[in-house]
Amino acid sequence: MPEKKRKILVTSALPYANGPLHIGHLVEYIQTDIWVRFQKMRGHECWYVCADDTHGTPVMLRAQQEGIAPEALITRMSEEHQRDFADFGIGFDNYYSTHSDENREIVTEIYRRLSKAGHISRRTIKQAFDPVKNMFLPDRFIKGTCPRCGAPDQYGDSCENCGATYAPTELKDAVSVLSGVPPVEKDSEHYFFKLGDFESWLREWLHPDITKARHVQPEVANKLSEWFDAGLKDWDISRDAPYFGFEIPDAPGKYFYVWLDAPVGYMASFKHLCARKKLKFEDFWGQNSTAELYHFIGKDILYFHTLFWPAMLHGANYRTPTAVFAHGFLTINGTKMSKSRGTFITARSYLNHLHPRYLRYYFAAKLNGRVEDIDLNFDDFVARINSNLIGKYVNIASRAAGFITERFGGKLGREAINKELLQETQKAAELIAQCYENRDYAEAVRLIMALADKANAFVDDRKPWLLAKDPAQKEHLQQVCTTSLNLFRLLTIYLKPILPNIAEDVESFLNIPPLTWRDADSLLTGHSINPYQHLATRIDPKSIPALLDEAQKDMKTMAEKTSETVTDTSDLARHPILPEIGYDDFAKVDLRIARIVKASYVEGADKLLELTVDLGGITRTVFAGIKEAYQPEDLEGRLTVVVANLAPRKMKFGNSEGMVLAAGPGKKDLWILSPDDGAQPGMRVK
Ligand code: 2FM
Ligand code: ZN
Repeated sequence: MPEKKRKILVTSALPYANGPLHIGHLVEYIQTDIWVRFQKMRGHECWYVCADDTHGTPVMLRAQQEGIAPEALITRMSEEHQRDFADFGIGFDNYYSTHSDENREIVTEIYRRLSKAGHISRRTIKQAFDPVKNMFLPDRFIKGTCPRCGAPDQYGDSCENCGATYAPTELKDAVSVLSGVPPVEKDSEHYFFKLGDFESWLREWLHPDITKARHVQPEVANKLSEWFDAGLKDWDISRDAPYFGFEIPDAPGKYFYVWLDAPVGYMASFKHLCARKKLKFEDFWGQNSTAELYHFIGKDILYFHTLFWPAMLHGANYRTPTAVFAHGFLTINGTKMSKSRGTFITARSYLNHLHPRYLRYYFAAKLNGRVEDIDLNFDDFVARINSNLIGKYVNIASRAAGFITERFGGKLGREAINKELLQETQKAAELIAQCYENRDYAEAVRLIMALADKANAFVDDRKPWLLAKDPAQKEHLQQVCTTSLNLFRLLTIYLKPILPNIAEDVESFLNIPPLTWRDADSLLTGHSINPYQHLATRIDPKSIPALLDEAQKDMKTMAEKTSETVTDTSDLARHPILPEIGYDDFAKVDLRIARIVKASYVEGADKLLELTVDLGGITRTVFAGIKEAYQPEDLEGRLTVVVANLAPRKMKFGNSEGMVLAAGPGKKDLWILSPDDGAQPGMRVK
């Protein structure tokens, strides 16, 4: 029984506009694209929309660092992203931007409706503020020592070393990564979405019995249960200027937090598509919509998509998602993608070395409907592509096509043989379809490859290369090759969601219109095909080291760029600027120009030089820890700056009656101060 035609809207998470796509991102886009292509092949009305996630502090700062407007940055990033997506065969029906009129309108409308219904509150909170950059700091822009394990250089929200999460105020020796100065706490009025108002609705929406939760995968339901138990807190949805985003209506200087307008970008992108395709927005987003709505996301953004987002939609009288499908992360050779190990591979560097279809096939062969991480192991990758995709599937066509072209003028026989195998392969269509529907592509690929094995066994058994030598077997040869090519055609239907470009080449080779799922019901006989052209080649194993090498280089360039653009935190981070003092405090320090009249080593001292300094009539003895940085003879006669009213300090080698000013981390790296020409000993420095 053919399925009823469904109306489906599908989204993938919107990539941030502040950086390139990497192959970790591609797990999701490939997963979604396969699902959408499958639904389209089934004859359903299915739309796939996405957009760049353009707002927020990182985009604003990156644009500043590049000396361009954020609008220029997001335009460039969007072009780069779209080029990558197109090259990986990701077939969005619309790719848009959250910085669009549609998004501003819808987010404003949602906010107004939520506000009118009493779901928005305001209160003043204390926030980390960078006094040099004059801006509030997101947690990721604060670094310091982990309060739990003491690891240095950790972000303001969590420690990469021990996994602790904390408030930025709990970090020790916290500094702003933008200026290197310690953040100060400052009051600001913020706007909150009262998520707690929706707790009972959310519980009901998911299912009164969470073990039977709808709309999410079972493992996600467990997580939700924990979140409910922990209590749903108000969500801070505003940010202070300067911020790149949409201003909150009637709240000058306050902007919607990027995460508020990001999922609304799904709606905005669809609205933009509606105008082009004459679709009705209401049919998909209205409260009474009968369309299905699916969000594919990574497991890290579940809270936003399973709590905030449905609550926002419901509170603003829109329909809610049919389901949120979460996937795990990508690991490479068993470990997290790492910049230092050179396994942080951008989409572009992958494309410079390997064909995108290999990654589509490999990810498909690993993906299932659960929230599990998947591993890209390069040995396994090469083996699976070469022996399964090429060795099993492509091989079937290349073994049969030549005979049809050369011996039968390109014409398939009127009859195929081995009906049993053909029927078994045809019958698999529904089971494989179920696997796709459930996002268990790994199982789909397993079933398809098992059928490919049988097809190859059939060819091995009939040995067309021997039949070709016997003129009496001519008809049999045509039947064998016709059967093989029919098996190949069926496998192509099943692989088409994963390998759309190969399928397209097969369609021109077989001289047929685009294959749909229903084509598995029929066979191709008595039909003229075109000469076979190579469909795909094996992976050259040399391309893997070349790719990893490029990834390593990419990271170096990126690290250099970052250190050029983000303030070098080293000195300021080690010695943050001290608390403010008044002029009176400063005036108490008597700084004088002094001439070093004598400099000598101190017997038994590793670090000290003994200096006799002339302060314009009076001389003082000062011990300075600059032995590794200066030769005594290089100092004699030089002018420098001395703290003249520092209480004398009794040292092992004598009294030190002042202090010479110097800067630097120490040892060889110390530099004493010198005044410009014209300054005279005794002059006050102020
Ligand atoms: O985590 C991210 O990369 C976000 N840019 C995803 C946003 S998805 C949606 F809500 F817009
Ligand atoms: Zn820690």
